[in-house]
Amino acid sequence: MIVAGIMSGTSLDGVDVAIVEMPGGRLLEHRSTAYPAALRRRLLAVSDAECHTREIARLHFELAGVYARAVGRPVDLAGCHGQTIYHEGRRATLQIGDGSVLAARLHAPVVCDFRPADIAAGGEGAPLVPFADYRYFRHARRTRVALNIGGIANITILPAGAGVDGVIAMDTGPGNMVMDALAARASGGRLRYDRDGRMAARGHVNRPLLDDLLRHPFYRRKPPKSAGREEYGAAFVERLLASRLPMEDLMATAAALTAASIAGAVRRFAPAKVDDVIASGGGVRNRHLMGQLAAFLPGVRLARADEFGLDAAAKEAIAFALLAYETWRGRPANVPGATGARYAAVLGKICPCPR
Ligand SMILES: Nc1ncnc2c1ncn2[C@@H]1O[C@H](COP(=O)(O)OP(=O)(O)O)[C@@H](O)[C@H]1O
Ligand SMILES: [Mg+2]
Repeated sequence: MIVAGIMSGTSLDGVDVAIVEMPGGRLLEHRSTAYPAALRRRLLAVSDAECHTREIARLHFELAGVYARAVGRPVDLAGCHGQTIYHEGRRATLQIGDGSVLAARLHAPVVCDFRPADIAAGGEGAPLVPFADYRYFRHARRTRVALNIGGIANITILPAGAGVDGVIAMDTGPGNMVMDALAARASGGRLRYDRDGRMAARGHVNRPLLDDLLRHPFYRRKPPKSAGREEYGAAFVERLLASRLPMEDLMATAAALTAASIAGAVRRFAPAKVDDVIASGGGVRNRHLMGQLAAFLPGVRLARADEFGLDAAAKEAIAFALLAYETWRGRPANVPGATGARYAAVLGKICPCPR
């Protein structure tokens, strides 16, 4: 069966669609659709923000149309992550983009709202992608880390030869989110991100500021743990700007924070020497960031998911096609070692094809 995985992450850059053939898991097609600037602004205005419920309800319905257009072809099933507008670990999470509206538009059943079942099972509701990391990247003799650099960065540690119970995963801290906000500030809103890390490369890391940021207890806390715009959104960026450092230096420091917190989590929480770090997400296109990360991870092979046969930009969307398929088959797909759930749960809500 042909399954669409629809992912829109915390970067709020747009929608990634992966068309996957199941049960084989082969990627047939990947497409990215950017959010129009006005839609992005409206989503930001309801993300961890005070706003009118009317705006949330309207976006909930409008996004379904955006997702349907992004899929743009017939499928047998779709798995839709939705747009997170609030996430607070074990307490609450909300992804919008209505599944029934999407099912009607696609003429196919949709699985949506994957995270609450895991939270109901005592988990963080995140990360859910480790299910796919385990399937694609586990190795009998090599300890691997699957890294995704989206708005937030997260890792899945796959110890050599370990079963799914041995998987460890967590958010490590900011991915691109802080750098994106700085790029927008520095350009008066013209730039959505620091292309290839050019601005960061012109600046100098402010060591005292970096050390101060890295002292936050989040980085030392044992997994499971998750982060979002609640931690690294507007308020965090305002604090950085208050330092009055030159923009280039702030960008360099933000890039170093992303790289250092990823490397720190790999060092701290991997139970054995790591052989491969397999990177995906939009952040792999930031050359400066990848250089920093390599410098923080001596002796480790840092590669892109593409080198392992998985499209780096499509990985999370592929994961949601896989997760939808599991739910459709009635099988659990959270990884309790990753989310901290007490049991493996069947995830999501199935919206049947209305006719
Ligand atoms: N050429 C590039 N240079 C630097 N950063 C990039 C580039 N292309 C994409 N990105 C980063 O990737 C982000 C999108 O990554 P993505 O994996 O879609 O994140 P999310 O899952 O949070 O939406 C952008 O916001 C931007 O920060
Ligand atoms: Mg994205």
